[in-house]
Amino acid sequence: MANLLVIGGTKGIGQALTQSLINQRHQVFFAARNKAELEGASFVELEVTQEINDQFNGLPDVLDGVVYCPGSINLKPFARLSSADFLKDLQINLLGAVNCLQALHSRLKKAEHASVVLFSSVAATRGMPFHASIASSKAAVEGLTKSLAAEWAPAIRVNCVAPSLTQTPLAEKLTNTAEKIENAAQKHPLNRIGQPEEIAALANFLLSPQSSWMTGQVLHVDGGMSAIS
Ligand SMILES: NC(=O)c1ccc[n+]([C@@H]2O[C@H](COP(=O)([O-])OP(=O)(O)OC[C@H]3O[C@@H](n4cnc5c(N)ncnc54)[C@H](OP(=O)(O)O)[C@@H]3O)[C@@H](O)[C@H]2O)c1
Repeated sequence: MANLLVIGGTKGIGQALTQSLINQRHQVFFAARNKAELEGASFVELEVTQEINDQFNGLPDVLDGVVYCPGSINLKPFARLSSADFLKDLQINLLGAVNCLQALHSRLKKAEHASVVLFSSVAATRGMPFHASIASSKAAVEGLTKSLAAEWAPAIRVNCVAPSLTQTPLAEKLTNTAEKIENAAQKHPLNRIGQPEEIAALANFLLSPQSSWMTGQVLHVDGGMSAIS
């Protein structure tokens, strides 16, 4: 049984992961801004873009794994993206993760083999129109992944999952009609969009000892989109 924290564990991919970790009988903590209840896990109220003071005080001294899920999808033509848009995306995708990982480092160091999982996006690898801001932020997350993996090895592994469009509350505007889902599906070699459980399964693997010789990786789970045209 491991002590695991899923930041952004109340919705979408994070919720699917939290539920799976509960089912595996780990000691699970899940954090978000809006309170939620899940039998078998303890809730931590947290706004990742604000300073972290005592929010993590209730966590155990030793953490075996942390997953950082909060992110954004802010698609606009480049001409309409303000620097405030870029900063907002950086705040939630990159700096929130930095905030949390700095606050949690001492707990991760105390574990025998800790694992951190971050989230990028297919848009950081494959150029797509209107993705300039989110692609820049996620590329920064991929840079953080590799740098931290180097700095924290061999004690703490750091890896990153890069999904394509997945049916979650975050992607609601892009998936709220059958027509939108079908159009998006056609853009993927596997002819459909992702489900949160499929992305959570990879994060689960990266947390587990089964991935114990992997660090600094960006793994794509995207219906083939990043590799096949
Ligand atoms: N879904 C996709 O199509 C897709 C595609 C590519 C990449 N991704 C990436 O995958 C990751 C997970 O995405 P998702 O679709 O599962 O997201 P989601 O449905 O929006 O869930 C995000 C979770 O993070 C929490 N959260 C959001 N902002 C927060 C904040 N400021 N402070 C604390 N908690 C916060 C949310 O709860 P509260 O709102 O209550 O705080 C929720 O639990 C993201 O990094 C996203 O960029 C997703």
